[in-house]
Amino acid sequence: MRTTVGIVGGGPAGLLLARLLHRAGIDSVVLESRDRTYVERRQRAGILEQGTADVLRAAGAGARMDREGLRHDGIELRFERRRHRIDFPALTGGRAVTVYAQTEVCKDLIALQLAEGGPLLFEAEALDIDAERARVRFRHGGVESVLECEYVVGCDGSWGVARRTVPAGVSRVFERGYPFAWLGVLADVPPSHDELVYARHARGFALLSMRSPAVSRLYLQVPEGTDAEDWADDAIWTELERRFATDDGWRLARGTITQKSVTPMRSFVQEPMRHQRLFLAGDAAHIVPPTGAKGLNLAVGDVVTFARALVSERETGSPALLNSYSADCLRRVWQAERFSYDMTTLLHRAPDATAFEDRLQVARLERIGSSRAAATDLAEGYTGFPW
Ligand code: DHB
Repeated sequence: MRTTVGIVGGGPAGLLLARLLHRAGIDSVVLESRDRTYVERRQRAGILEQGTADVLRAAGAGARMDREGLRHDGIELRFERRRHRIDFPALTGGRAVTVYAQTEVCKDLIALQLAEGGPLLFEAEALDIDAERARVRFRHGGVESVLECEYVVGCDGSWGVARRTVPAGVSRVFERGYPFAWLGVLADVPPSHDELVYARHARGFALLSMRSPAVSRLYLQVPEGTDAEDWADDAIWTELERRFATDDGWRLARGTITQKSVTPMRSFVQEPMRHQRLFLAGDAAHIVPPTGAKGLNLAVGDVVTFARALVSERETGSPALLNSYSADCLRRVWQAERFSYDMTTLLHRAPDATAFEDRLQVARLERIGSSRAAATDLAEGYTGFPW
């Protein structure tokens, strides 16, 4: 089997890359180790930066997002039983974000790929990658084959084969763990607020988000290693109520919890993002803690950068943009790493936090609540860095 670009991983990064290449007349093959249902149900943050929504539209994949996605012009920060709104367009010259679940982005891209694009193989497990010759050995339907490519792009996440293919001697890893995790629930109840609420509380962080006008997505900071099944539904609602409580009588509506899971928190970057003819994109190269929902947006930035670089090479004969792929992506990646780290440490309570650090955290939030400059920094980060 031969193709121009072998794409390992059919999550949002790999699927969008296949779409961008197809629109540019470049063929690709996508190998996804899981089945279609798994990819279409995997819960991840669904906040699309303006640039991400624009890319999906330009790729012809924005029709349902434009019908069903929710434009959000701000978020609420909640601390000391008070509420403070961050107004994105007012602070960023008109930028906003779109709330559209990642499951839906994947469904749209899969449908387009199967209808119009090149091969997308589910349950096709990449076994190893030859980065020098751009070959992927994989198993599909019990049969082993080799995919011969000009380039391979690893979009297979942080536990995938692509990242591990880069020898330790030529790469460097930067990472940080956090001593807490998120317990996330999906509940059949209209969101209790029309924008996302990020709450800092002495008992820990809480987040109110949504999947649609009828479905809420809520998170609680919990100790690292927590088992989701240890939390009864009632206990989750009671804890959410405590952490979101305000002095102005705001109420959290309860509903049936349909899904419960724990998300670990990690910051991770592997540099460089290219080795020979293998390029890393999305979670295969970098992980951010979920606060601020940057993961999908970073992955989109990477694959747009790769697609542009390859198109440029085809049109001009110059590999300059392919050669600067890693450096070009990493500038944006580190801005998102910084933003996600700042949002995380601004809002979570570390188990060993001192009273001094508690006061500093409130002071940082009060600064954002009272200074346009401080609020602008958050709004620019949240709505996205240009690529
Ligand atoms: C969601 C997740 C996030 O990490 C975030 O910052 C906002 C929203 C979500 O799952 O909806």
